[in-house]
Amino acid sequence: MKIKVCAFDAYGTLFDINSAARECSKSIKLKNFNDNWIHISRHWREKQISYTWLLRIMNLYKDFWEITQDSLDYALELYKLDHDKELKEKLLSLYLELDAYPEVASMLKSIKALGVKTAVLSNGSPKMLNSAINSSLIAPYLDEVLSVESIKVFKPDPRVYELVLSCFGCTRDEVLFVSSNGWDICGASNFGFKTVWINRDSLPYDKLPFSPDFTGFDLTEVSAIL
Ligand code: LAC
Repeated sequence: MKIKVCAFDAYGTLFDINSAARECSKSIKLKNFNDNWIHISRHWREKQISYTWLLRIMNLYKDFWEITQDSLDYALELYKLDHDKELKEKLLSLYLELDAYPEVASMLKSIKALGVKTAVLSNGSPKMLNSAINSSLIAPYLDEVLSVESIKVFKPDPRVYELVLSCFGCTRDEVLFVSSNGWDICGASNFGFKTVWINRDSLPYDKLPFSPDFTGFDLTEVSAIL
């Protein structure tokens, strides 16, 4: 492989999307939330992603931060917690400072030491992405932060993956794309990137047309693949 750029999905791949609800459950005294935070977090994520797909199919666009709020509203209403404005505000502010997985900084550093450029390629708005990147102190190890906001379409639309080529002036086969989302791996493979699927929960791979070139349990495996 002659890889020049390693591009990463953000949410669920670099950042632990369950960390907002997990942190919140430690400080909030609300039985219904504390008993169900992981289910609420999963519903939040499922709706967030399905709203991006639905909007894309209808040729509509909404800022990912707005979608993140809408999907949280759904998840909280499902658990009859939608009356609690403080809870919602707390979860949203924690989402802007999601935990990066512990291996992220050292993994990015080792990739840069190999002479490979690093980038985030995400549905997230620049404001959300920069907030999480800055709070997890990984900005020095990222060459670029690419958001769909510049083209207003969501993954897995091929135009999103094209952003990497126009930014770095490289070819499709020079990009390694890393994501924990099977559908995102499929979108990137469809576009012509080499792919690494990060499968922390030992889930089956999605029954979609393209399989990952490599699979890792966590991000420590990416530099060995390069
Ligand atoms: C992203 C979402 C899809 O960061 O995880 O683009």
